[in-house]
Amino acid sequence: MNDAALIDQLIALIGPQAVLRDAADLEPYLQEWRGNYRGTAGVVVRPGSTAEVAAVVKLCAGRGIGIVPQGGNTGMVGGAVAEAGQIILATDRLTAIRELDAEGDHITVEAGVVLAQVQAAAEAADRLFPLSLGAEGSCRIGGNLSTNAGGTAVLRYGSMRNLVLGLEVVLPDGRVWDGLRALRKDNTGYDLKQIFIGAEGTLGVITAAVLKLFPRPRSVAAALVAVPDPAAAVALFGRARAEAGGAVTGVELMPRLAIDFALRHVPGVIDPLAEPHPWYVLLELSSTAADAPLAQQLESILAHALEAGLVDDAVIAASEAQRRTFWHLREAIVEGQRHEGGSIKHDIAVPVARVPAFLERATAAVEAAIPGARVVPFGHLGDGNIHFNLNQPEGADRAAFMGRGAEINHRVHDIVAAMGGSISAEHGVGLLKRDEVAERKPAIEIELMRRIKQAIDPAGIMNPGKVVRA
Ligand code: FAD
Ligand code: MLT
Ligand code: ZN
Repeated sequence: MNDAALIDQLIALIGPQAVLRDAADLEPYLQEWRGNYRGTAGVVVRPGSTAEVAAVVKLCAGRGIGIVPQGGNTGMVGGAVAEAGQIILATDRLTAIRELDAEGDHITVEAGVVLAQVQAAAEAADRLFPLSLGAEGSCRIGGNLSTNAGGTAVLRYGSMRNLVLGLEVVLPDGRVWDGLRALRKDNTGYDLKQIFIGAEGTLGVITAAVLKLFPRPRSVAAALVAVPDPAAAVALFGRARAEAGGAVTGVELMPRLAIDFALRHVPGVIDPLAEPHPWYVLLELSSTAADAPLAQQLESILAHALEAGLVDDAVIAASEAQRRTFWHLREAIVEGQRHEGGSIKHDIAVPVARVPAFLERATAAVEAAIPGARVVPFGHLGDGNIHFNLNQPEGADRAAFMGRGAEINHRVHDIVAAMGGSISAEHGVGLLKRDEVAERKPAIEIELMRRIKQAIDPAGIMNPGKVVRA
């Protein structure tokens, strides 16, 4: 951006250190982590308070300049990518924890607080903030809210939109909406905060939030279970629910190839089972009771499942350290996959019982389309949310493989649609899925989304071009 007057005004509002223009300074804000997108914006602003965010937005609104909010830049769908002429509004200086009310079970944090820091603050107060995902060391609360992030504890605690009591948002005209209420019940009209959650920055800049805290689990038991196939995994999940009810906290599905990728590329990954198996489930139970006999309960679930032929082998974590190694194995899959050449990703959801049929049909479809493609479907089985990812065939040309991405996505998403599923269960829409979502969602839903966008951001300056075309 060569608008010297605008730069001077931004500097006057938030100071010279908070307006970045040098290529080296811009780099981390422009490069999407998977290498699928690269932004071309020439300015990053880093306001240090809600008032500064409001001042920047007001200035941009007056000049019709597009604003792309950015948190940890770990998103999966190109939502934080900014074009030339737009500015990136980074939240990495909005890092205050404004209040923690342990008795009331809530915490008020600014949008730039890193997720792991919210978890740590909750833990220090003997509470739990349950959102948990592989990028938690770098994603920020504003990004989690704006993508309605999911992760590995949704089954028990819900996704981000279930964890919020109140929001503070800078609207596209620069006004501040202070909705930082800590109410558990409030039926005084539309639930406005929910419109901004999952909006991916297209309706305003979230600057702070009141988040729910929970009692800390005092007992946790986890097992890595080898199962013959996804149908057995679903049946195992059903039995765990029947026997342990609400104690079932996480149910993650992994194929052998995902484990091989993690073992091959990520330090500290261990396979605790002696022999390789085709499929695995990471099953975790937790309870707030200090003496809950969860390990015995897990043993009983597994024994019954073994009798029913649902389990080939299993290991129950003997210590907290071993439980962590199970989760490290699970979380390492994303990184492991990255080292295996191009990968075409999906983030689908179908009703849980249909996961096996989906996997069968989608695998057959992609293997027919790209012989030798390495199918690595893993993820949140308990939510029916599978990352149906495939890596390029060994030795294949990366660009040629990635060039098939849109076509493969369509084939897989046709199967998802036929099963009444979602083509974006937890990662959002961004740029990547915008046009496909518009094709597949009922026209009335797209029209309502456009009307909401038009009502809140009539000038179209908030994250232009993302989620839904104007
Ligand atoms: P960014 O990438 O910076 O932004 C994401 C979107 O939110 C963009 O559209 C941006 O414009 C908007 N935005 C950011 N901050 C604000 C704000 N303050 N106000 C308004 N809009 C804003 N996601 C899951 O849901 N579940 C997972 O299990 C999961 N696992 C992951 C594992 C790895 C290893 C990685 C790298 C990513 C994973 N993700 C997962 C995706 C990603 O971490 C989440 O989408 C996360 O919520 C994004 O947060 P962020 O701060 O990085 O947001
Ligand atoms: C995860 O659950 O680890 C991520 O959402 C994975 C991904 O889609 O690659
Ligand atoms: Zn996920």
